Amino acid sequence: MDQISGFSKLTKKEKIDWIASQLDNTSAEKFLTIKRFWQDNEQEQKVFDEFSENTITNFIFPYGIAPNFKINNKLFCVPMVIEESSVVAAASKSAKFWQNRGGFKAEVISVEKSGQVHFTWDGEKTALVNFFADYKDLILNSVQDIVQNMEKRGGGVKDLELVDRTSDLENYYQLSASFNTCDAMGANFINSVLEKFATTFEHYFQQEINKNNIQGQLEIVMSILSNYTPNCLVKAHVECPINELGNFGEGIDSNTFATKFKRAVDIAYHDRQRAVTHNKGIFNGIDAVILATGNDFRSIEACGHAYAAKDGHYRSLTKCEINNDIFKFEIEIPIALGTIGGLTNLHPMAQTSLELLENPSAEQLMKIVACVGLAQNFGAIQSLVTTGIQKGHMKMHLLNILNQLEAQDEEIEKAKEYFKMNTVSFSAVREFLEQSREIQ
Ligand code: MEV
Repeated sequence: MDQISGFSKLTKKEKIDWIASQLDNTSAEKFLTIKRFWQDNEQEQKVFDEFSENTITNFIFPYGIAPNFKINNKLFCVPMVIEESSVVAAASKSAKFWQNRGGFKAEVISVEKSGQVHFTWDGEKTALVNFFADYKDLILNSVQDIVQNMEKRGGGVKDLELVDRTSDLENYYQLSASFNTCDAMGANFINSVLEKFATTFEHYFQQEINKNNIQGQLEIVMSILSNYTPNCLVKAHVECPINELGNFGEGIDSNTFATKFKRAVDIAYHDRQRAVTHNKGIFNGIDAVILATGNDFRSIEACGHAYAAKDGHYRSLTKCEINNDIFKFEIEIPIALGTIGGLTNLHPMAQTSLELLENPSAEQLMKIVACVGLAQNFGAIQSLVTTGIQKGHMKMHLLNILNQLEAQDEEIEKAKEYFKMNTVSFSAVREFLEQSREIQ
């Protein structure tokens, strides 16, 4: 590839042509076909193009539905955007299973978000502490024009405190603020407020140390929201008497299932190797809904994993209890998301998803997302402790392989039948197709 300057200034077509000019003829020809993924509707395409930078086409992901989610006695069809086979099927299966056993119960515990102005001060701590006591209100009031709309909606800045972190890092302090951003994810809001806090703080603190001849150097390092939101927390659970769990085939009665299921969850609590995969499965479901609703899956994942390690050891985000013959499976997870603003308003499919979920508030969506994460984990563990994961997984994967090998409809049907009793692998499917084509 040649070096290029001014790539971002090229039009979309020019960008594509330049990249094609860098490729050999065969690859260039193939590359040029990426235009087929452009939306016909130019206006709509322009919206997609402007989400990001240097956009040249769209990358299509499947948009699926997991029906029958009974959450706090209300039924939902949940939209899920995910490329991995089996995920939507597993979520749907779990949703249906629990629909007839009381459904999911979910509650939001808290909705606080936070952000910090990180700074260093090498002078006396008391100067800082005294200044903060005198100027806290002024610093808080300096953001009035930014917060007024959020305050009208019931949110805003909830608190601001000075935090001494000098025992961790020399001269390191924070102004740490907590926020309620109502139905918005609120990242821009929080960052704007923090940057204003920083300039106000710096201005008045500098003035104060000059006036009083206080020795020391203040440096604002950065002002940024924290994606770690342990106080933006939601809980969800399912429960039923063990004997209502039913039979899981091949000698696995409900008692055996419950005990084995609980053991699998306990293993993920104690064993990091297992916990990461266990939680990855939870995020299969969570990310899929987060993406479908135009939210930021990176922040929710980062936070969820940090929360899983909150006691210093990375653990499962779900837990299972068996008390008095009642099987209870629950999740507790921080999920900071929004249902207004940002991509939730701009992405046409995100809007469709929110409408499908009956235009939920952020708190309602937190509950739905937590239930999908729990359902996903239930489905994975159910398979793991009964048939094993590959049976269902490869059944779904079979279709991908067949498509990759350009199988025709009739061949697909025959393959589905054949692989009910045979192990799916890429080579086995290829062999099956070759043989059935030879016979014809
Ligand atoms: C695969 O994407 C997710 C699982 O591995 C999760 C799990 O093992 O619990 C099936």
